[in-house]
Amino acid sequence: MDEQIVQLRAQFEEKLAAVTAVAELEEIRVGFLGKNGSVTGLMKEMGKLSPEEKKAFGQKVNELKNFCTEKISEKQSELARLEMEREINSMPEFDVAMPAETKRGSYHPITLVQRKCENIFRSMGFAVEDYSEVVTDYECFEALNIPKFHPARDMQDTYYLENGQLLKSHTSAAQNAIYKKYRDALINEGKPIRAIFPGRCFRNESTDACHENTFFQMEGVMVDKNISISNLIFFMKTMLSEVFEKDIKVRLRPGFFPFVEPGFELDISCLICGGDGCPSCKHSGWLELCPCGMIHPNVLIEGGIDPEEYTGFAFGLGLTRLAMMKYGIKDIRDLNGADLVNLDQFTDDK
Ligand code: PHE
Repeated sequence: MDEQIVQLRAQFEEKLAAVTAVAELEEIRVGFLGKNGSVTGLMKEMGKLSPEEKKAFGQKVNELKNFCTEKISEKQSELARLEMEREINSMPEFDVAMPAETKRGSYHPITLVQRKCENIFRSMGFAVEDYSEVVTDYECFEALNIPKFHPARDMQDTYYLENGQLLKSHTSAAQNAIYKKYRDALINEGKPIRAIFPGRCFRNESTDACHENTFFQMEGVMVDKNISISNLIFFMKTMLSEVFEKDIKVRLRPGFFPFVEPGFELDISCLICGGDGCPSCKHSGWLELCPCGMIHPNVLIEGGIDPEEYTGFAFGLGLTRLAMMKYGIKDIRDLNGADLVNLDQFTDDK
């Protein structure tokens, strides 16, 4: 019977060597190791042997079985590798340095609006600042006169990290750092603080056509001696007329934000009807665009500036909103989608 084992093993090796495809491998497996396979058949013959012979023979059959299993699995990996090589070699040769056939990229509508605003403010002497997206509770709330448990926090629910930091819910979170950065030049050299800081903001928000959990704002602050609401109105009107490339009327309504006093909502005359009333402005002639106000004395103090001597204004322009208005984008979610047909139609410079 030992001879049978030797023969079977030789047979197996011969067949295995001839295999070129995974499907054939399965045939061999069934032929040798399957329920009616030849190796399995040897087991069945063991009944005829004496107990001692049985033990020795059983061991050999088992060895053969393990040998076959192992070889089949090795062969399987080898075939898979060959298959892949074949596939790679059959690919047409191409030049990785060749430009793609698709169109060139384009600027995102928000980038376009942001750059336009930056240029306008730069021309009026404002510095353009960048700020992190992950901030502390102090920067986002405490330094802005919004203590813990203040109800104004409800509207700015955002995403918290395990270490207590959070994703900034408004660009106002950079105000404190800006005051601290420029206050020495203000106090010692009499240079007014003029800065804008665009940035991505986050809020824990259910999304729909008008709401997104991720959006862009552009904050602006100006601090100097004798800054008044008329300065604020002038800057906003000039900037918005430039952005929309037509004369824009603005109006202020009272609005509450703990970090400004007085606080306002700034509306602009409807871009579609010019103020006569149409469905876009719900027949009011006005569109709500930009919360703003005179910086609260507590906020100036927190930034190291004496509110008895200096005053200032701050505004939080919704860049996402502005882009939607300028380009007539109806669903805010399109801005975070990856549909290039949607997004690249506004770039002049492709
Ligand atoms: N940070 C406020 C918000 O996002 C907007 C704002 C900025 C209001 C500056 C007043 C002054 O809701």
